[in-house]
Amino acid sequence: MNIVILTGAGISAESGIQTFRGDTGLWANHRVEDICTPEGYARDPLLVQNFYNQRRKELLNDAVQPNAAHLALAELEQHPQVNLTLVTQNIDNLHERANSKHVIHMHGELMKVRCTHSERLYACDYDVAADDRCQCCQPPQPLRPHVVWFGEMPLYMDEIMYAIEQTDLFVAVGTSGVVYPAAGFVRQASSNGAKTVELNLAPSQVESAFDDKFYGPATQVVPHFTQRIFEELAKE
Ligand code: NAD
Ligand code: APR
Repeated sequence: MNIVILTGAGISAESGIQTFRGDTGLWANHRVEDICTPEGYARDPLLVQNFYNQRRKELLNDAVQPNAAHLALAELEQHPQVNLTLVTQNIDNLHERANSKHVIHMHGELMKVRCTHSERLYACDYDVAADDRCQCCQPPQPLRPHVVWFGEMPLYMDEIMYAIEQTDLFVAVGTSGVVYPAAGFVRQASSNGAKTVELNLAPSQVESAFDDKFYGPATQVVPHFTQRIFEELAKE
């Protein structure tokens, strides 16, 4: 069975990572255009680096651990009858830490920085200063967060579109359905004949596009849903 799962900030909320939207979301206290645009970075690179330095510190906090929803998806990937494509909009590394082997980070990764000239990636678990430079270019060039900003092209779109064309089942977990192209995946999967399921705390902006919906905290609804898939597969 081919399955595509798209995850968003909601899957990591119960691990202690703030979501983007809503009253307690990151965008309640930050102007998106200052932080998450190439123009914002050009204007004030230190402000942008400090925003991501703070996010990195939060992620490195010992209290932040993968939760039952991340673990359930890692277990699903291991099932011999399942071919899972796990696509995440999250820049955290909780899927990997839950032992998912292949994670497609369409909006980049917090624990990496990128040379602004050669695009070479560097692992990053430290605070980046505005004047930090790469080791690949001469003269050394600035390092930017390896994160997709508004107006930039999401990563791995060809691989994702191919998986959506082949999939039997498309599941969105913990995403508000307001940021495109990810918010459009459900309609693409549906028009290719896939069954579609939304797992979220509350209905998303694209709720009406899904065949089935289950609402509740990700740590409850995701393991429950994967368990049902295992039971269905056992009958085949
Ligand atoms: P947008 O309109 O600025 O960007 C959409 C981008 O996706 C465009 O560059 C477009 O060319 C490209 N695109 C659209 N459909 C595509 C397809 N089928 N294949 C390849 N590329 C396609 O606005 P937006 O969609 O709201 O945001 C842009 C991106 O920046 C989003 O992916 C968003 O999540 C990301 N972003 C990330 C963060 C972060 O903190 N991680 C913050 C803000 C924005
Ligand atoms: N369990 C399940 N869902 C939850 C939980 C939870 N415990 N807590 C919150 N949610 C749901 C919310 O109801 C909401 O629908 O998760 C969703 C989080 O939405 P956003 O904060 O908008 O996050 P996301 O959809 O991932 O944002 C998309 O926007 O700013 C950009 O690039 C950034 O990748 C991000 C993209």
